[in-house]
Amino acid sequence: MIIAVDGPTASGKGTIAKALAAHFDLPHLDTGLLYRAVGRQVVLNGGNPDRSEDALAATDFADALLADPELRNEATGSLASRVSIHPLVRKALFDRQRAFALQEGGAVLDGRDIGTVIAPDAEAKLYVTASVEVRAKRRCTEMQESGRDVSLEAMMDDLAARDERDTNRADAPLMVAPDAILIDTTSLNKEAAIAAAIAAVENALHG
Ligand code: C5P
Repeated sequence: MIIAVDGPTASGKGTIAKALAAHFDLPHLDTGLLYRAVGRQVVLNGGNPDRSEDALAATDFADALLADPELRNEATGSLASRVSIHPLVRKALFDRQRAFALQEGGAVLDGRDIGTVIAPDAEAKLYVTASVEVRAKRRCTEMQESGRDVSLEAMMDDLAARDERDTNRADAPLMVAPDAILIDTTSLNKEAAIAAAIAAVENALHG
């Protein structure tokens, strides 16, 4: 069984995907991390994330980079959103994601284009969203907890810019798959969002 979880940054999709993986006993891939690794590798290479050739060269990153805490910060998220525009980068990361989705027993993948491009054949597709303000507040709280300070306004601007890039790019834009179930976490706490997601998957599987 493949479960596809898509949605914008800080919508709660990562938390939901991890909880679904635990609940249904499936392996989980955070595909955003792959794009973040490419973004980080471009910088390490001294390249330009907006140049397709530089971004493509960075898809060759070593797997150890996936454990680098730098990948979690906002600056890397922003770089990820810039490199993810390039069709050659998306193509280079496709096989790895598709193979993960097709492994024996199934998998949970979260990202932007899982239900539309990577696994249009997924048995259950969720689109997780929330208002920009709530998402920015969540991300600011996370950053403060890890000792970094960032203003709510700056975070809202950053998320809005990333949403704009992710939604309007020509290749694999962020969009709701026609057969996806929408989960709006704006006024849901973590437990309620997870419960809604589990119920939605059960419903997709058993009607
Ligand atoms: O989900 P996360 O914030 O880690 O993703 C970082 C960036 O990677 C996103 O803003 C998006 O541009 C890109 N991405 C993508 N397709 C995916 C996952 C992430 O384009 N499947």
